[in-house]
Amino acid sequence: MTHLAHIVGARPNFMKAAPVVSALSELGASQILVHTGQHYDEAMSQVFFDQLGLPEPDLNLGVGSGSHAVQTATLMVALEGMLLDVRPAMVVVYGDINSTLAAAVVASKLHIAVAHVEAGLRSFDRTMPEEVNRVVTDALSSLHFVTSPEAIGHLANEGISGQGVHFVGNSMIDTLLRFRDVLDPEATRIRYGLPERYGVATLHRPSNVDDLESAQHIVEGMRRATTEVPILLPLHPRGRDLLTEAGLTEIPDLMIVEPLGYMDFMALMSGARIVLTDSGGIQEETTILRIPCLTLRENTERPITLSMGTNRLVGSDPDLIQKAVREALESPRDGEVPPLWDGRAGERIADVLAEI
Ligand code: UD1
Repeated sequence: MTHLAHIVGARPNFMKAAPVVSALSELGASQILVHTGQHYDEAMSQVFFDQLGLPEPDLNLGVGSGSHAVQTATLMVALEGMLLDVRPAMVVVYGDINSTLAAAVVASKLHIAVAHVEAGLRSFDRTMPEEVNRVVTDALSSLHFVTSPEAIGHLANEGISGQGVHFVGNSMIDTLLRFRDVLDPEATRIRYGLPERYGVATLHRPSNVDDLESAQHIVEGMRRATTEVPILLPLHPRGRDLLTEAGLTEIPDLMIVEPLGYMDFMALMSGARIVLTDSGGIQEETTILRIPCLTLRENTERPITLSMGTNRLVGSDPDLIQKAVREALESPRDGEVPPLWDGRAGERIADVLAEI
């Protein structure tokens, strides 16, 4: 019998799952890795398997893109068929994407236990699809692996507490610490033709890239930011068309490239003076790399990166973005490493799962 089925689907899942799968494999667990196919481009998926040493998925459900309803429904149908075939004792889900939600719902209805890695994060903004996914996934999970202490309180406020809640640290940071020493920021910078002093940006959040007005606002913010420092932007496919329509590609000191693999992206972030992003994970990675991070959102589900790390919430106002870039370049904050972000979260999670 297969004891564990790990469900992954999109880019940020892969670096969270890799250390857990690897630690469980050392313990001899019987496990399979299922890729839902939510992300499918080579640059959004395969490159991470190649670089992170994740085993090739045992199954790829090939679900692909769609509206939230279409994507989630297609995920659920595909996951139900797979779980009925495999009948694992438990599914392990990661983060807050649609694949996470779909797997939690389907497994629960088949009476298969759900373990959630990165449980309890809350932005308290239900207009974010990920917030809905987090709340539902946590409500349905019986094991909650938590990356930072405040998440324990969020879960308790929703009636989730006790033996199933484990503060284990951050498995995505395990991956970063594993590879940090082999990154070559200088060679990577030169390969991308960047000057010594540069910034890195990412944009893909629906609130920034899904309607023209927001896109114009954020494009103006990027234009202002590049008057302080030249910026490299590996562009997620989600925002490509609207951001281009809003003038993104006409900003002189903004270098737009295709989505990057893990090693190049981490190397370029390590060598950057500043990072501007609307991603969740990058707020955490910059905290470990001690690079100033400006988060182009109104809220964050990762407040420990504000209180301890190098992150600052800036929103999307162009004036505020430019001012924050200038301040961060003039007086970068070093920050501290949050508790248990020590490279051993995967082992802690594996120990709990193996015991069960
Ligand atoms: C998803 C997650 C988000 C996460 C992000 C990381 C949800 C609700 N959102 O957002 O939390 O931060 O992944 O990247 O699950 N596309 C491609 N190629 C791909 C994948 C997507 O071209 O390989 C394009 C398609 O046009 C697709 C769009 O990107 O419609 C959005 O993809 P989707 O998986 O729906 O959401 P993301 O924006 O990637």
